[in-house]
Amino acid sequence: MPILEARDLHTVRTVLWTDEADCAATAQALAGNASLRTACIELHGTLGAGKTSFVRHLLRALDVVGAIKSPTYAVMEPYALPGLSIWHFVFYRFDDPQEFEDAGFREVFASTGLKLVEWPERAAGLLPPCDLRIEIAMVDAPLIDTDSDDTRRQVTFQAETPLGLTLLP
Ligand SMILES: Nc1ncnc2c1ncn2[C@@H]1O[C@H](COP(=O)(O)OP(=O)(O)OP(=O)(O)O)[C@@H](O)[C@H]1O
Ligand SMILES: [Mg+2]
Repeated sequence: MPILEARDLHTVRTVLWTDEADCAATAQALAGNASLRTACIELHGTLGAGKTSFVRHLLRALDVVGAIKSPTYAVMEPYALPGLSIWHFVFYRFDDPQEFEDAGFREVFASTGLKLVEWPERAAGLLPPCDLRIEIAMVDAPLIDTDSDDTRRQVTFQAETPLGLTLLP
């Protein structure tokens, strides 16, 4: 009988964020993980799911001070902390593979440091395999009602490498 999918359950964790404080708590815990120093983390989820918010909480927990922008137009926002380089990518508007080479992104992904990647699917084929894949899904997302106070997110963490396994919550 052919095996259609072999998935080790120990590589996946799913948590529920009731509100943004839960997101902050997850970020805080992850920030204390030494494996983060060389990790590549993909953030998946629809527009407004909370990818940038998680990155902001993580960077704050790592003691980044000052503005944390969403690099929508710049594609990449670098942060240099003592002993830790961080690069935050948003590939939402990315459509030029040549830019990936010209901007030196290939070198960045080969460097030691933390890479956080929103919309990696828009740079598919250019990115190296990530260590951890985070999928943020709004629970009962409001369709029209923007005043809805439903802030719950179901968040799935999937390790893609041995290093990723050490990053699971
Ligand atoms: N965990 C959360 N709980 C409640 N609200 C949240 C949470 N995360 C984000 N939000 C709110 O949702 C809005 C959009 O979040 P954010 O910008 O992080 O989304 P995103 O996934 O980065 O979207 P995009 O794909 O457009 O970059 C923000 O106003 C933020 O306050
Ligand atoms: Mg974003």
